[in-house]
Amino acid sequence: MEVTAVRDTVQTRRAVPADLVVALGLLEAVGLPGAGVREAFDHFRVGEQNGRVVAVAGLEVCGRDGILRSVAVHPDHRNRDWGARLTREVIDAARHAGVRRLYLLTTTAAAWFPRFGFRTTERDAAPPEVLDSIEFREVCPDSAIAMVLDLHLAPTPDSTAPSVETHS
Ligand SMILES: CC(C)(COP(=O)(O)OP(=O)(O)OC[C@H]1O[C@@H](n2cnc3c(N)ncnc32)[C@H](O)[C@@H]1OP(=O)(O)O)[C@@H](O)C(=O)NCCC(=O)NCCS
Repeated sequence: MEVTAVRDTVQTRRAVPADLVVALGLLEAVGLPGAGVREAFDHFRVGEQNGRVVAVAGLEVCGRDGILRSVAVHPDHRNRDWGARLTREVIDAARHAGVRRLYLLTTTAAAWFPRFGFRTTERDAAPPEVLDSIEFREVCPDSAIAMVLDLHLAPTPDSTAPSVETHS
């Protein structure tokens, strides 16, 4: 009997408005805030497996700086590089958009972001446009750790372009 391997189609791509509801559901499922996501969704990217969005990450532009936010991977799809890939892509998109420094707040992944060059910083050291963002003002609790990546100093990530591939 002939056995045919089933192949998954996976890709990362820029988010489109039709992804918003699924992205918000994913953020809620992993305990991340949805406030401000709609407004920044033009700068979000998603990871898709067999046509289903399984991961998301976004950029919120704040003047000359930006915020990396809403990095979330569905629990069934963790440890398959989705998070790292989308994070590198958002960093690269921020660099191409002329963003100077990228900030983030996290309560759960401060040990993960240094692999992309982020370092811990004082929350109050962020510029006024970042402090005034929804993410910094309303969303994240005061206990969150602030981190920053200087895009002038960071090396250019290697995987950036939207891509389609198959996994058996
Ligand atoms: C953090 C998160 C985005 C990682 O996504 P992922 O696709 O599972 O991660 P990747 O496959 O790209 O990377 C896996 C590696 O990261 C490590 N890792 C995953 N989550 C981590 C965390 N919260 N803290 C430290 N390390 C973590 C894994 O141990 C693994 O390490 P290894 O490369 O040494 O084996 C995902 O766990 C998630 O959605 N968490 C809930 C939401 C969240 O905390 N978001 C970040 C704050 S905005």
